[in-house]
Amino acid sequence: MNVLVTGGAGFIGSHTVDKLTDAGFNVIVIDRNKPKYANDSAVYYQSDLNDPDIEEIFEKHSFDYVIHLAAQASVAVSVEDPVHDALDNVMASVRLIELCKKYHVKKIVVSSSAALYATPQYLPVDEKHPVSFLSPYAVSKHTMEEYVKLSGLDYIIFRYANVYGPRQDPHGEAGVVSIFIEKMIKNLPLEIHGDGKQTRDFVFVKDVAEMNCRALTEQGKNTTLNVSTNSETSINDLFALIAKHTNYGLAPRQAPERKGDIKHSVLNNRLATETLNFTPLTPLEEGLTETISFFQKHPF
Ligand SMILES: NC(=O)c1ccc[n+]([C@@H]2O[C@H](COP(=O)([O-])OP(=O)(O)OC[C@H]3O[C@@H](n4cnc5c(N)ncnc54)[C@H](O)[C@@H]3O)[C@@H](O)[C@H]2O)c1
Repeated sequence: MNVLVTGGAGFIGSHTVDKLTDAGFNVIVIDRNKPKYANDSAVYYQSDLNDPDIEEIFEKHSFDYVIHLAAQASVAVSVEDPVHDALDNVMASVRLIELCKKYHVKKIVVSSSAALYATPQYLPVDEKHPVSFLSPYAVSKHTMEEYVKLSGLDYIIFRYANVYGPRQDPHGEAGVVSIFIEKMIKNLPLEIHGDGKQTRDFVFVKDVAEMNCRALTEQGKNTTLNVSTNSETSINDLFALIAKHTNYGLAPRQAPERKGDIKHSVLNNRLATETLNFTPLTPLEEGLTETISFFQKHPF
């Protein structure tokens, strides 16, 4: 079975490539960046999905499945540069979907986001929760979802909560986990925005990669699934856990609350568990210690 992983040089993509090759799939990656954590069993094309020449890659490899992870993944960048965001998240996705149709791909799995739930009306948020938009990123991800649904292809749409783990770049728009770990390992001061009581649903990247893999092998299709742990962790508790495992002794500085920050977020994962026979199980403390030891061995 040949699987195309777009964005396979990125954080979630690189783990997904590892999981797929371990499971015996032939993996082909399209990413505009060179892989930092290349998998020797995968084939890499350093190409942009907006380049019409990528059709040659579809002609060369007969893809059974496509896992679409390539995106402009930063909410902040989408606000600063909505054109860039729309090109990468809408236009590139539409081009990809058209190629999947033309070359009879059996199923496409796409990565969307909890950003579509904006400020949730109830918790934990299930997939029936209305969508609304606080950023161009949320608009572009939702638009991609709608193109996928219209395509006639078999599909799974994943809406990820806060993904963390080894290889997540702490610079730029990174998750709070990798930012905290990098600062604490280097014994640098760090800030918590607001009172730190805001909560998030942190899901370990290897569990996410497993779900991407299962989306190909399990029967479920044509559905939208949350990818989450169904449990809430406050930023203060996250700080304390990482501080404990990095022997960090400084107190956090309190910074003003960020405009537009959601107070509480936790996603219901019942539907994904039923559909894929899998639920993200890695306990937060275990995922954090693995991530800390990765950062200690591979400083960014
Ligand atoms: N990390 C999270 O917590 C999170 C949460 C919700 C959704 N997501 C989504 O999951 C996916 C993967 O996220 P990530 O955290 O691994 O991001 P990432 O930035 O590490 O990886 C994205 C990859 O896509 C590539 N890419 C972007 N546009 C491209 C294009 N036009 N052509 C070719 N390659 C292109 C980039 O070079 C990069 O390697 C994204 O779709 C993102 O929006 C991530």
